[in-house]
Amino acid sequence: LESTPQTTRETSFIGKMKKTGKNIVVFYGSQTGTAEEFANRLAKDAHRYGMKGMAADPEEYDMSELSRLTEVENSIAIFCMATYGEGDPTDNAQDFYDWLQEGDADFSGVKYTVFALGNKTYEHYNSMGKYVDKRLAELGARRIFDLGMGDDDGNLLGFSHDLISHLYCIINKVKNVYFMVYLLSFIVCSHRPFDSKNPFLAAVTVNRKLNKAGDRHLMHLELDITGSKIRYESGDHVAVYPINDSVIVNRIGDLLGVDLDTVISLNNLDEESNKKHPFPCPSTYRTALTHYLDITNPPRTNVLYELAQYATEPKDQENMRKMASSSPEGKALYQSWVLDSCRNILAILEDFPSLRPPIDHLCELLPRLQARYYSIASSSKVHANSIHICAVVVEYETKTGRVNKGVATNWLKNKMPTDNGHKATVPMYIRKSQFRLPFKSTNPVIMVGPGTGIAPFMGFVQERGWLKEQGKDVGDTVLYYGCRYKKEDFLYQEELEEFEKTGVLTALNVAFSRDQAEKVYVQHLLKKNKEAVWRLVHSDNAHIYICGDARNMARDVQNAFYEIAEELGGLSRSQAVDYVKKLMTKGRYSQDVWS
Ligand code: FAD
Ligand code: 2AM
Repeated sequence: LESTPQTTRETSFIGKMKKTGKNIVVFYGSQTGTAEEFANRLAKDAHRYGMKGMAADPEEYDMSELSRLTEVENSIAIFCMATYGEGDPTDNAQDFYDWLQEGDADFSGVKYTVFALGNKTYEHYNSMGKYVDKRLAELGARRIFDLGMGDDDGNLLGFSHDLISHLYCIINKVKNVYFMVYLLSFIVCSHRPFDSKNPFLAAVTVNRKLNKAGDRHLMHLELDITGSKIRYESGDHVAVYPINDSVIVNRIGDLLGVDLDTVISLNNLDEESNKKHPFPCPSTYRTALTHYLDITNPPRTNVLYELAQYATEPKDQENMRKMASSSPEGKALYQSWVLDSCRNILAILEDFPSLRPPIDHLCELLPRLQARYYSIASSSKVHANSIHICAVVVEYETKTGRVNKGVATNWLKNKMPTDNGHKATVPMYIRKSQFRLPFKSTNPVIMVGPGTGIAPFMGFVQERGWLKEQGKDVGDTVLYYGCRYKKEDFLYQEELEEFEKTGVLTALNVAFSRDQAEKVYVQHLLKKNKEAVWRLVHSDNAHIYICGDARNMARDVQNAFYEIAEELGGLSRSQAVDYVKKLMTKGRYSQDVWS
């Protein structure tokens, strides 16, 4: 007889903590997933401060073990307890609740804190959290931080702030390091506006594919900024902090033979320096490579130079040194082998098998992962609580046959509004821009934005529509949009056609570049409509806006304006150039372009 293998589920959380080296256990009483999500986030965040956390469902573990938590060194139990219905425990916390009520366990020495989740508008606000907090103390456990009260009634922001500052306190007390510093910096942070050092975690509420066909992925995302007090204007940019692909992170760890979960602190040896660490420390290699370091752009020559010393194969070392040198041969090699071949640090480690640098030095050399900017594709007049993004996912094959994926766009692509019941969030902040609608709504606008260059114009058009609704006189609103095929990538077709129908858009000109044998681009349509364009610009004080590709499109469109000025204004080329330059200084010719 063959015996059937039995899978036994681990019900001992103490056993699991010991086995996996965890010292924080975050129990959650969760009905709709919010408390569970917070518990997971808390458990995950713990490692940033040199601790290891695990989230645990009380229903799945033997809670009578709680009295033995002291067996785990420096341990702490956090309870994220939601209150359900009429002050009841959530279903998964019912047994734990009953046991607490009946039991006479002795929790002496067990350190704990409770974070209650609830909604102030209910009569039994946070009663479950309050009960657990009180009862654990009665049974001898040591409360190391006062009960936290989270209210999700339209104020998730305060909710998560409370939670995080709470975490800082807990960890500070347990570890006795970084004591109030983190807490204070956090409290200061939480009251100042969101910026690059203090991004807001916005929930993704919409993520849809915009193109109807084709092998690219163009997407529309909406980020919820409710409760954040963030303000934005049409034309501003939203910056998002992406994270690196775990596949690349793991592969680097494998190649260098390191345990990525090792806790590290990279300290600046220059004690005078304001920057004590290159990124927030303590951390782990995994967190550093995932959140803080740029591991996908081709490394600069100084990085190659520093790493060369670790290549044990003389030929590899020589090639690396050569690429880092200023000799014409070295420069050409760097250009072709690194830049043109789009080799990132992983590809370099793969292709120089003898190069196995210590990971600490690598972490020190790699530049910081940067935020990515997106032109906001909405108007705050219409969408005060959300920020829209229109972006194309970057993915291409390199000369070495590898597929490189853009960090931010691939990460955003997978940010689905609810992922297994968890909210997908994006750390973001606003960067103000000069790309602004005319102060006077009666001024006409000409917007030229092929591809994702349409983004800020979705905001502009929404805003002009809103102004009209307010009874304002609104000048002509003319759009030149370009895409490949009408049936494939005419982004926002329905919305734009509706705007045209209602007269918000006075003219919707679309150049389909690939629907016929010869290319048709936005500048061709501008030239075709040159009389109308010239009249708007020269007689009616129109403002011109160009958005999208910085490499060719912006220049070609500018040339089209020169030609129109020459033909219809009777100007020489240099006069036409001056004419456009003047428009620029008067803020009537603005560009929002990127490469
Ligand atoms: P990354 O990981 O940064 O990779 C992109 C890099 O890959 C490129 O810089 C290039 O070096 C390389 N690369 C890409 N394609 C190829 C190829 N075919 N061959 C070889 N190398 C290649 N983007 C939008 O989609 N919508 C917007 O509204 C928008 N607004 C912007 C506004 C501003 C002010 C700026 C500066 C940029 C804007 N961008 C916008 C671009 C955006 O910020 C990102 O650069 C873009 O989304 C790619 O980011 P990523 O992290 O996915 O790719
Ligand atoms: P193409 O890819 O068929 O050449 C958005 O990317 C649209 O801009 C596409 O239809 C693309 O056409 C077009 N485009 C490419 N280069 C351009 C340029 N220099 N000026 C204007 N539009 C351009």
